[in-house]
Parts: sequence; C-alpha cells; structure tokens
Amino acid sequence: MHHIVMESEKNIFKPIGNTIAKAGSLLGSGQLVAFPTETVYGLGGNALDDSAVAAIFKAKARPSFNPLIVHVPDLETAERYGVFNAQARLLAQTFWPGALTLVVPRHDDCPLSHLVSAGLETVALRVPAHPLAQDLLKAADLPIAAPSANRSGAVSPTIAEHVAHSLGDSIDMILDGGPCQVGLESTVIDATGEQCGFLRPGGIAKEDIEAITGPLLSAGEDPDAPKSPGMLKSHYAPNLPVYLNCSARKPGGAFLGFGPHSIQSDLNLSEKGDLQEAAANLFAMMRQLDRDEFSSLCVAPIPNEGLGLAINDRLQRASAPKEKGGEE
Ligand code: TXA
Ligand code: MG
Repeated sequence: MHHIVMESEKNIFKPIGNTIAKAGSLLGSGQLVAFPTETVYGLGGNALDDSAVAAIFKAKARPSFNPLIVHVPDLETAERYGVFNAQARLLAQTFWPGALTLVVPRHDDCPLSHLVSAGLETVALRVPAHPLAQDLLKAADLPIAAPSANRSGAVSPTIAEHVAHSLGDSIDMILDGGPCQVGLESTVIDATGEQCGFLRPGGIAKEDIEAITGPLLSAGEDPDAPKSPGMLKSHYAPNLPVYLNCSARKPGGAFLGFGPHSIQSDLNLSEKGDLQEAAANLFAMMRQLDRDEFSSLCVAPIPNEGLGLAINDRLQRASAPKEKGGEE
C-alpha cells in the first residue's frame, strides 16, 4: 500500500541506529518524547524536572493537573522515590514489569517534581515491560513521567500515528514501536495503606490483584471513617486559607505573585509572566508558603488561558472551603 507521509507524521522515528540514544538525550535536556509501552503510548518527560513536567501538561492541553505516572526501569529504582510496604513490594514483584501502577508515599527526600504528584505526598510508579520503554529508560537514565500521549479528552493512543495526529508538532520525537499489545491503560492501585485500594481498572484484572492482596477497597469506600486514611485524596490542599486574584497581601498573609508587575511577593510563580514556568513552580511554591508563620496564602491573578486554566483550577480547589475534618 502506498503510504503518504502526513505533515503530522514527520516526527515519528523507528528505533534504529542512534535513535534511542537521541531520545534519551532529548529527555535529559527537558524535551518531550512519546514512546510505546505495552499498555498505550506515553508522553514522556524528565520526572525530576518541573519545567519538563509542565510541558507535558501544556502539550496535552489538560484543563487540570492530574498526577502523572512515573516510569522507572525496576523495583529497586522505584524504591528510591517511593516507600513500599510489604504488600506494595509483593505486588511489584508479581506484576512488574507490566501493566500495574502503584501509588505509594513519596520518600521524604524524594527528588521527583512536585508537579508530577500534583502536590500530593504520593507518587504513582510503574515499571513498563515494553523493550523500547526499557531501552529509553536506560538511555535517559532518568525517571520518566508519562501520561497517555493524547490530547485531553481524546482516547489513549496505541500506535505511533495516533500520537502524531493527537499531539503533532508539540512533541519533539515519537518513538515508533508498532501497536501496543495490551491496548488499554495500566491498572492503578493505591498501595499507601494497610489495605490496597482500586483506583483505576486497566490491563491487569482486579481479581488477579486481589489474589495477592485480598479484597481491594474501591474508590470512595471508607470503612472506618475517622481513623482510616481512606482512599487517596485527589488534590493537594494547603493548610492555610487561600485567596485568589489578590492585588494586595492580607495582614499576616503570604503573597504568591505572578508576572513582572506583581506586588512585593514572598515568591513569584513566574517573574516574566510565563505560564509554563508558573505551572512548574505551582505546587513547590504553595508548599513553601504553607507555613504556620503566615495566616493565609494570597495569590495574584493568573491569566485564564493555556496552562493558566489548569493553574486556576488547582488554585480554586485549594481555596474552596474545607469540609469538616479537613478531608476532601
Ligand atoms: O498505561 C498507563 O498507565 C499509561 C502509560 C503511558 O503508562 N499512562 C497513563 O497515565 O495512563 P495517565 O496520566 O493518563 O493516568 C494516570 C492515572 C490517573 O488516573 C491518575 O489520576 C492516577 O494515575 N494517579 C497518578 N498519580 C496518582 C497519585 N499520586 N494518586 C492517585 N492517583 C494517581
Ligand atoms: Mg490518559
């Protein structure tokens, strides 16, 4: 069949010659690379680099910051970033490499971007089985943050051309590994507590996981409400009350600025008014200012366009009145 090369397919590369090495160095310099995993294609960026992670959200045009999966070559590397209890380790030993993502607490000194966790104290980790994904992890020698490589709202891509059509020129390289074998996303398990929770169905059946862990908690289920950690919080919420669109600091409050004309700020999301830089700084800076010495956190107006939509979405959630007990 005669194949016409579409404009949008120019950045698709077969893994021959030094392509993987090139992809690895692109990741090392903060660029994005789409790559195949056994589940779906991922849109990869250096998970240590806030700015690369912000670029992922920008390329996906997601109106909100959901935490992303961090891909690593093996369990040993995963344990550098996350805390694995006995169950988590057993699940990893059973199903990795493979279509299982484990959400675990971040290590205290975890160097991963806070944006990758959307500000949460947890991180989602996965060891992919696809040989190209493994080769890329080795070439980059970095943890790779990667959501499915589609625009927000579109279906997950299972061939390189889907990625090209969905994301096109916004990424530097698409590695072509042919069609994905599993074809749907990884199963996501909350392995932060004693009893594991079922967060997203996917490539590994719930029953196969329950054969190891016993019954899984389902999302929203909270068996012994007051003391149980329950299911994961889906958003980071600062302890301090948060005020948006502030032009002045409230007495005793911290001020998180944006842009060159911001009033005297404690921290500025982006002096030059760059939304990608602001996204990269958002969670780390909120955390830095969320301290007892302040009575509130006042945030400058953020333009509601591009990544500003996702930034404002998160700020609005952070400023919403907290429910009793502080749980969301
Ligand atoms: O198969 C897959 O999982 C693909 C390939 C590329 O690995 N990736 C993928 O990523 O589907 P994404 O970003 O589209 O989905 C990540 C899922 C979301 O449902 C997200 O809410 C959940 O994982 N997740 C990630 N980090 C989390 C966290 N810290 N706590 C709770 N859920 C988390
Ligand atoms: Mg997705």
